[in-house]
Amino acid sequence: MFKNLLKKFSKKDEAPSFPIQDFSIIGTDMHSHLIPGIDDGAEDMEMAIQMVIQLKSLGFNKLITTPHVMCDYYKNSSETIINGLSNLKNELARRNIEITIEAAAEYYLDEEFSGKIDNEKLLTFGDNYVLFETSYINKPENLKDVIFQLFAQKYKPILAHPERYNFLYDDFKNYQSLKETGVFFQLNINSIIGSYSPIARTIAIDLIDNNMIDFVGTDAHNLNHIYNLNACLKDKYCQKIITTASLLNNKL
Ligand SMILES: [Fe+2]
Repeated sequence: MFKNLLKKFSKKDEAPSFPIQDFSIIGTDMHSHLIPGIDDGAEDMEMAIQMVIQLKSLGFNKLITTPHVMCDYYKNSSETIINGLSNLKNELARRNIEITIEAAAEYYLDEEFSGKIDNEKLLTFGDNYVLFETSYINKPENLKDVIFQLFAQKYKPILAHPERYNFLYDDFKNYQSLKETGVFFQLNINSIIGSYSPIARTIAIDLIDNNMIDFVGTDAHNLNHIYNLNACLKDKYCQKIITTASLLNNKL
């Protein structure tokens, strides 16, 4: 009995010894840009369909796609996103491609976001989760205030790709301090193989090793992003995170 217990505990933080062939173990991708023509993701319907086909072939059985909402560049509203989703679903049905697909948004923390939290119904998924991002370079002075504001409105905030923000890089305690607010962290899977930068890879691994990741997402903007996921699957840290019991993707 003790032997089994020791075995169990010693394996707690290790990658599984068996190979994971695809992402079916997590089921849901909750961050992507699949709705054609409304942000810097899929350029047209054909590209969107091919992206969905490739994500499905990687084992995802549910896609929650999250177009950018930014007051300067992508002035999407809930209406433009829901209409875009409807067109995409119709085309998938016409081609007999079966997959569950929903839409929410990736809200950018700009000067309009705070007002939206209080005055609009934000697009959410799962248990009232809201995905948001910030500038990569400049630390938003109201970052924690916005997180608290989201909680006050009964939303559950998820910070998209925390490993990609330069303003957090100077001290790992910045991540711990953010987690103490209750915000959830979503890692971009491609960060694990250094698709964005070497430092984003280092931070991704540190966040995985410190059990600070709640969700993973593809953040797929194009087919190349999706093809890179095949290389990720072979990485031990990818295998480790997608088999982590506390990961919430398959609860969505
Ligand atoms: Fe994104």
